[in-house]
Amino acid sequence: SKLSDGDENPRDFIAKMKNGKKRLVIFYGSQTGTAEEYAIRLAKEAKSKFGLTSLVCDPEEYDFENLDQLPDDCAAFFVVATYGEGEPTDNAVQLMQNLQDESFEFSGGERKLEGLKYVVFALGNKTYEHYNVIGRIVDTELAKMGAIRCGERGEGDDDKSMEEDYLEWKDGMWEEFARIMGVEEGQGGDTPDFKVTELQSHPSEKVYLGELSARALTKTKGIHDAKNPYPAPILKSRELFQKQGERNCVHLELGIDGSGITYQHGDHVGVWPSNPEVEVNRLLCALGLWDKRDHVIGIESLDPALAKVPFPVPTTYSTVLRNYIDISAVAGRQILGNLARFSPSPDAEGFMRSLNTDKEQYGRIIANGCLKLGEVLQLAAGNDIKAVPTLENTTAWPIPFDVIVSAIPRLQPRYFSISSSPKLHPTAIHVTAVVLKYQSVASDKVPPKWVYGVGSNFILNLKYAACGETAPLIAQNGSADPAHTPFPLYAIEGPRGAYKQEMIYKSPIHVRRSTFRLPTNPKSPVIMVGPGTGVAPFRGFVQERIALARRTIEKNGPDALADWGRISLFYGCRKSNEDFLYNEEWPQYIDELKGKFTLHTAFSREPPYKPDGSKIYVQDLLWDDRSKVADAIINGKGYIYICGDAKSMAKSVEDVLAKILGEAKGGTMEVEGAAELKLLKERSRLMLDVWS
Ligand code: 2AM
Repeated sequence: SKLSDGDENPRDFIAKMKNGKKRLVIFYGSQTGTAEEYAIRLAKEAKSKFGLTSLVCDPEEYDFENLDQLPDDCAAFFVVATYGEGEPTDNAVQLMQNLQDESFEFSGGERKLEGLKYVVFALGNKTYEHYNVIGRIVDTELAKMGAIRCGERGEGDDDKSMEEDYLEWKDGMWEEFARIMGVEEGQGGDTPDFKVTELQSHPSEKVYLGELSARALTKTKGIHDAKNPYPAPILKSRELFQKQGERNCVHLELGIDGSGITYQHGDHVGVWPSNPEVEVNRLLCALGLWDKRDHVIGIESLDPALAKVPFPVPTTYSTVLRNYIDISAVAGRQILGNLARFSPSPDAEGFMRSLNTDKEQYGRIIANGCLKLGEVLQLAAGNDIKAVPTLENTTAWPIPFDVIVSAIPRLQPRYFSISSSPKLHPTAIHVTAVVLKYQSVASDKVPPKWVYGVGSNFILNLKYAACGETAPLIAQNGSADPAHTPFPLYAIEGPRGAYKQEMIYKSPIHVRRSTFRLPTNPKSPVIMVGPGTGVAPFRGFVQERIALARRTIEKNGPDALADWGRISLFYGCRKSNEDFLYNEEWPQYIDELKGKFTLHTAFSREPPYKPDGSKIYVQDLLWDDRSKVADAIINGKGYIYICGDAKSMAKSVEDVLAKILGEAKGGTMEVEGAAELKLLKERSRLMLDVWS
């Protein structure tokens, strides 16, 4: 249909770009919103790096045929997910048809995109066969038509490492993009993304105080997932380490009865933490918001295509800092540069700018010192960061709150391998969390301090709350350490009296499916390697087998397990009487599985040691047991699972396995052993659930 002059065809992205002076068009093929998020991130980065604004497009809402009319100083981005069996997402079906259709013509009349500059980021999941095929097809089709790709094609694996894959890819891509587009970094503007309004009166039941979804606020029934986590009550919790002291490992049981949540052994549970109260208070003081901390605020996006408000509103200043944004992370170099202009003094500004430009200084003081944003603001203003933050000892910075909301990412859930089986515990999810706490490295500016992991310390505080304990204050330099004070109890659920009166403590959770599962046939031998909290999923595995054993024996009598394969757990910890997780449970499991379950333990910090005095680890036990291990895998067609530390443990275990299998095949670790491991991985008979 012909449009009259001045009318803009809403499906014409080129016209929209021209009107909005946008030089980038970013198409996203998204099913659950992840690809859209990455599209928006790319748009934001293009704006802050180069001052280039983007049109972020749902391809379904636009016609594709004038892509060849994209002006020379523009570029097209494709952020596309592969779905199901190698299919495009619903909103990218048409786009893919056009791209692949040999008879499709652009409005210019030819099937050519000579010189079109483009970028591809593909999102997929390696556990599926057709990993990222949609992104790859987009790339080859565009290249075929003469378009020029800026940088490498990015590929993200949703199963494991989407974020890391993105981060690893993007810097190189932006460098190439800048070169091809002829743009320079540092030309980004400072236009705000959000507008924050203080609301004078607002019905209190409509204010978000930590709830993560509208359903949670109104307590409406609905499916619980990452978009609508379930406030799970803490049913039980206890300390797992035998030796009480510096280190903690918490066993937590989260109730899911009546929630509609189901899980499988080997799944992960996402726990949504809140920030420690001391950090919330520090930042409230440093932002001059202490007196207004409970004031109700509305936040709206000034460019919804680019930046959505990342958490529910209306809310309060303190809730944003406590429940919604990640103020506990080490302050990034970039953000310090952005905030320098709001410094309360020239000295503070100079310090912020030098941290931003001088990588060495930043690394030495901020990264090594593990300083959070609130602490850096205090340090720059000459405040004492060791003291409990108050209005009196903390300088207020005139930083607009919208700048804080754009600069600090959303607080993310922390994932834990579930340590129970639904067959034994259908109404509870068990978590086994070692509490992360370490000393930072001192510099000339700051003494060392304790650093507390947000997720695991949240869990520790849930345990304190649920058990009616008070958190111990750890004496350091003669004073109590404020970083260890727990959040006030209401932070768990929001200060809505009912919960406090019931004295039930809750944490928002959701379940993430995994493929880390036992073989369905119990005849297959299984080898599980999980030192430390790496044992968590294997407690679930063993419980799963126990449930099956009970059913089988009930049906076929006491000898029914005779032809079952052996399941062997290789577990390691420091000492048999200090940090031996679930030590009181294993004998009972061994007994019930009638010799089909064996436990092999390596206590690294007690005798026996190796002849040269070095520690015995799980991989040494595997080596000692090598003939049985090789037999189970090669002749028994067995399965191997490794869980725990990704960097050194998993690597050493894989090396030992390669050695065992290589030698059993009459060859070497490097050739036959490596080939065997590769094959096992391809067949999902060697599976990893590892973290760093
Ligand atoms: P360590 O701390 O005494 O060195 C759980 O953390 C257990 O894993 C501990 O006994 C720890 O020993 C051990 N561990 C540390 N590094 C390891 C590695 N590279 N491979 C296997 N186990 C390791």
